Amino acid sequence: MTTVTFINADGEERKATGKPGLSVMQLAVDEGIDSIVAECGGGCACATCHCYVDERWTDVVGPPNEFEDEMLDGTACERRENSRLSCQISLTEEMDGLIVHLPEEQ
Ligand code: FES
Repeated sequence: MTTVTFINADGEERKATGKPGLSVMQLAVDEGIDSIVAECGGGCACATCHCYVDERWTDVVGPPNEFEDEMLDGTACERRENSRLSCQISLTEEMDGLIVHLPEEQ
């Protein structure tokens, strides 16, 4: 199992645990973390599941693919170096302890 810490724009932390293969978006939605909207349900078509991967974890998580990269240009909050769409991050065992920061709006 993989535990992820979500930190919202107010600095509130929530931890959630999911099986490898589950997306970070789905984990957040299942936990009722409302900073993740996920309008398209994980289809990489809405950019309302935007998150910032903690800088200590960007190497483990890796970069977005080309399609996600284009979608990231349409996020409500500023895009940063560590921006990802959380529906495109599949949990792995190596991500246990992952920290993601959530933007103020989606
Ligand atoms: S849920 Fe729509 S892009 Fe991630």
